[in-house]
Amino acid sequence: MELLSNQPMYQTVPEKYIFPPEKRVVNDIILHSVNFPVIDLRGGRVDAEGWCEIIGEIMKAGKEFGFFQVINHGIPEKTISDMLQVCDEFFKMPAEEKAQYYSDDLSKPFLLNSSTTYDKGETRYWRDYLRLVCYPIEEVIDAWPEKPENFRAVLSEYTLQVRELSSKLLKLIAQGLGLDKDYFGGDFSTGKTQMNINHYPPCPDPSLTMGLMPHCDRHLITLLAQGTVSGLQARYMEGWINVEPIPNAFVINFGHQLEIITNGLLKSVEHRAVTNSAIARTSIATLIIPKTDCLIAPAKELLNENNPPKYKEFIFSEFIKAYSAASASREDVLEFFK
Ligand code: SIN
Ligand code: FE2
Repeated sequence: MELLSNQPMYQTVPEKYIFPPEKRVVNDIILHSVNFPVIDLRGGRVDAEGWCEIIGEIMKAGKEFGFFQVINHGIPEKTISDMLQVCDEFFKMPAEEKAQYYSDDLSKPFLLNSSTTYDKGETRYWRDYLRLVCYPIEEVIDAWPEKPENFRAVLSEYTLQVRELSSKLLKLIAQGLGLDKDYFGGDFSTGKTQMNINHYPPCPDPSLTMGLMPHCDRHLITLLAQGTVSGLQARYMEGWINVEPIPNAFVINFGHQLEIITNGLLKSVEHRAVTNSAIARTSIATLIIPKTDCLIAPAKELLNENNPPKYKEFIFSEFIKAYSAASASREDVLEFFK
């Protein structure tokens, strides 16, 4: 079991984590002066005054960046801080305790592993992770760890709260598109919700490594809690934007399914995680996923002479079958469904 979180602090980066010079993040343009959108949800009451304005902000951010942060979203700070803490405690547990969860079998509802590799076996990413199904809770809770002691209780509460926030956001997005506000409420968002809990220990030389490969999300929408340590970068034009952490905020981004349903209006944008030498970073991505037999296609209501369908109709499970390999590029994925 090869986990970074089981190692004593490395003094230098082991060879297998060193990226070839042309792939290193230090070669890329970081756009420090671009203002990444932060949207105040005013307590998260969907019927409150001012929602039209918020919908406008979401659509603007969605079209320009495919990403935004939400603050004042209604999820209690304690729900978020308890969740981040219990995840940190999990990674700090002794290797013997964690060993029972270590697996390469992606069909498991709870598994622990270390970085996948970008080039099939050569360079490793600087990342351990938990990958778990968190909803429907009663179907999966028995697969969750009993230690740390409050893990199941904290994860249950966090799941409920984050799913509720996701439905509020999907309602606002539906309205912003001119669709019925419950458009995304059925099969589009009630598949098995997945969580990827990423853990990046401090790295002796971040210029040589990568935390998480550049990728686009495949499902409907992602809600990410990233604590207070920066590391997430989102693609913007020819460079990357550092998505600076705001305490208790969620970073929201769209997946390919939403891009296809909106006929390309809301884009699934590439993002990655870089490492740092000072402090461990834990981030929690909650992935809202369609039911496997859900029919995906550009929404008819959005199509007209000037906006003909860019993608064909398919069943979500066909998509998963074709694109279970994480290395497929954004262009390949979307091209396949044209
Ligand atoms: C991160 O911010 O650590 C990664 C986000 C993701 O899961 O894509
Ligand atoms: Fe992602």
